[in-house]
Amino acid sequence: MTTIKNVAVIGGAGNLGPSVVKALLEAGFKVTVLSRASSASTFPSTVRTHKTDYGSSESLAEAFKGQDAVVSVITTAAASEQQKIVDAAVKAGVKRFIPSEYGVNTQHMEGGIAKILNGKKATMDLLKKHAAENATFSWTGLSNSMFFDWGLKVGSLGFSLREKTAIIFDSGNEPFNGTNVGTIGLAIASILQHPAKTANRYLNIASFTTTQNTLLKILEEETGEEWTVTHLKTDDSFKSAEEKLAKGDYSAFGDYLKPHLYGDGKGHANVPLANEELGLPKEDLRETIKMALAQ
Ligand SMILES: NC(=O)c1ccc[n+]([C@@H]2O[C@H](COP(=O)([O-])OP(=O)(O)OC[C@H]3O[C@@H](n4cnc5c(N)ncnc54)[C@H](OP(=O)(O)O)[C@@H]3O)[C@@H](O)[C@H]2O)c1
Repeated sequence: MTTIKNVAVIGGAGNLGPSVVKALLEAGFKVTVLSRASSASTFPSTVRTHKTDYGSSESLAEAFKGQDAVVSVITTAAASEQQKIVDAAVKAGVKRFIPSEYGVNTQHMEGGIAKILNGKKATMDLLKKHAAENATFSWTGLSNSMFFDWGLKVGSLGFSLREKTAIIFDSGNEPFNGTNVGTIGLAIASILQHPAKTANRYLNIASFTTTQNTLLKILEEETGEEWTVTHLKTDDSFKSAEEKLAKGDYSAFGDYLKPHLYGDGKGHANVPLANEELGLPKEDLRETIKMALAQ
């Protein structure tokens, strides 16, 4: 039976990376973080670090020597670069590759979102090809919809904790999924602790399935204030996304996400979740919101 001990993490100092590194270390894996020669990233003293040129197969072969698994947390814009990385990992005898997905489920995309996330999809296709040709190699894909606690902090969910303002799209009642970044780290550690049952599977997780109106209600209760609410239509976001993408502006992604997540009747939150299978903790929505407000 495959056991995974040595894990290389690519992009371990970004928005998600530190939660992944922390969870892997706490689960007892021997972690090496790869980063670019040009990077100024810093890492905990408990991890080994390795400067790597992702464009050089020699550099990648050296980086992957003795690694059982690779977890890519590379930035979205570099998603296509993962293809060289995957080829080098397979060549070096890596047993499991977890690609940088961690958002929209790339196995069920269409239109502009599919175009923008093409690099992620191509990486997934390549992983499937390698696994079909090589019985000792496998992959796991992980979709977590929105980063939830991070999204509250940076405003990507449409709520500004500082200004106490909210943008509510459509009715505000469409359920959407979000996952706290620490939970994504736990899911990755669990996948690598259970390599057999997670091999060659694309899993969905979520800390919460909620609605914009539920969030607004809790935020108003917890701050004791009425928030300033702007109502927008996801049809208008979609139009804006199409216009931007036609000009090659990939910031269209944020506009495409609004109809994807919040469009009435879209039903994208209705996916089978692997939380229980991965042993993820049950989380409390109000507690997460209270923690975000306290920061
Ligand atoms: N669902 C959501 O709400 C959500 C939100 C944000 C991100 N995501 C997804 O989560 C994943 C990680 O995103 P993130 O925001 O954590 O990434 P990030 O912070 O933007 O970047 C992660 C790391 O990628 C490396 N990197 C940056 N530019 C690079 C380049 N040109 N070539 C190679 N490496 C580069 C850097 O590592 P070094 O400097 O150490 O080399 C950086 O620390 C992505 O797949 C992204 O799409 C999802």
